[in-house]
Amino acid sequence: MMIEAMFRRVTQLYSDWEVAKWLSRVPWPFTSASAENFIADAEVDMEHGSGCHLAIERRVSATFVGTVSLRLPALEPDPWTSDRQLAILGYAVQRDQQRNGFASEAAASVVQLAFDQMDIARLRATVLRDNVASRRVLARLGFTIEYAGVRETPRYGGPPRVGDTFMLERSEWRGAVVIRAAKSHTP
Ligand SMILES: CC(C)(COP(=O)(O)OP(=O)(O)OC[C@H]1O[C@@H](n2cnc3c(N)ncnc32)[C@H](O)[C@@H]1OP(=O)(O)O)[C@@H](O)C(=O)NCCC(=O)NCCS
Repeated sequence: MMIEAMFRRVTQLYSDWEVAKWLSRVPWPFTSASAENFIADAEVDMEHGSGCHLAIERRVSATFVGTVSLRLPALEPDPWTSDRQLAILGYAVQRDQQRNGFASEAAASVVQLAFDQMDIARLRATVLRDNVASRRVLARLGFTIEYAGVRETPRYGGPPRVGDTFMLERSEWRGAVVIRAAKSHTP
């Protein structure tokens, strides 16, 4: 996707409060300057290997529907962990494209990418208590709650909010994949 188109799509996605309100790292209001920073940060992450931010597109039309990302906190400028095998999974889907299975499919692909192609051993995602859709996405992939009741202060201010940190280990995921494959071959 051309950079101008990406810029427009990212602005449209994150300037929707119904999407942004669930995300603690996104600035609000999300302006065109925020979109420029978002794309610049994504490019830096790619260069440094500290993350990858991908567009989710429809297979046939290549229409943009959202984003999915992996961030490696140990490689960020001010790391809070030294675990280089830990990645943070994130995703967002445009409101008019939600409930079509896009987040589930994109997250499953990125989990496979992380565990099969990158040297990632564990994935993490922190989700607010009321974020039913995101919790479903993670549950279907085999994530379980590692830390319950964590508090997250959104970047756009306001009081901390309560969420849960979900985790998926590569070993558990491999086990789940084998079980799924075995089930799919059961007549
Ligand atoms: C979370 C989000 C990415 C899900 O995207 P999506 O493409 O609609 O998800 P899917 O279609 O794959 O649906 C996943 C599951 O959630 C359910 N779901 C989706 N939207 C829902 C809603 N508004 N209310 C209740 N359940 C919902 C689906 O029915 C599905 O359930 P199933 O697994 O039992 O079939 C999307 O709602 C979003 O962008 N939210 C704002 C950003 C966000 O919360 N990001 C994650 C931060 S942790």
